[in-house]
Amino acid sequence: MHGEKPQECRTAMSFYREHVYPHLVSMLGNPKPIAEIRKRIVSLAQGDVLEIGVGPGVNFAHYDPAKVNKVFALEPNPGMLSRADKQRRATSLKVEFIGLPGEQIPLANPSVDTVVSTFTLCTIPGVTDAIQGLMRVLKPDGKFIFFEHGLAPDAPAQVWQRRTEPLFVSPSKVVT
Ligand SMILES: C[S@@+](CC[C@H](N)C(=O)[O-])C[C@H]1O[C@@H](n2cnc3c(N)ncnc32)[C@H](O)[C@@H]1O
Repeated sequence: MHGEKPQECRTAMSFYREHVYPHLVSMLGNPKPIAEIRKRIVSLAQGDVLEIGVGPGVNFAHYDPAKVNKVFALEPNPGMLSRADKQRRATSLKVEFIGLPGEQIPLANPSVDTVVSTFTLCTIPGVTDAIQGLMRVLKPDGKFIFFEHGLAPDAPAQVWQRRTEPLFVSPSKVVT
């Protein structure tokens, strides 16, 4: 039928999404300079926290359990969630995983003290809806901590960004 992907193609995309992509993000998403910035900013979170697109859960190690009541960990990719749960077990944090995309935040408004997003906004297809949703659930005196990236100012770096970008675009709409 018009517009339908063959079964083999859907299976390959699911495999990439749930196994290869989480592996790539785990391997490449936390070099030392990035880990140092994560440590500095994630430790500012306090109270009830919403983290969107937690991925393999590398930020969990940087939350201060003395300041954080609970982390609502939103992540639509099951392959990421299993890795994140492993990271969660290495901490004393209270974490509730929510297997939904950032466009569908199922929390009451306003209910969280901190929202955290690291390298996630660039992967969300409905980013405007997601930002509106997180502003809806964030208390008026709450904090939005984000660490994101964009196009480099220099041309050689842009060339490599464009070459490698397809690897990191999360195929979030795969239907199996
Ligand atoms: C580049 S990874 C970053 C993971 C993690 N935040 C980090 O800093 O390592 C982007 C994450 O966003 C997730 N993601 C993809 N589409 C999403 C959506 N619509 N809403 C929320 N997260 C999404 C991906 O599954 C992936 O875990």
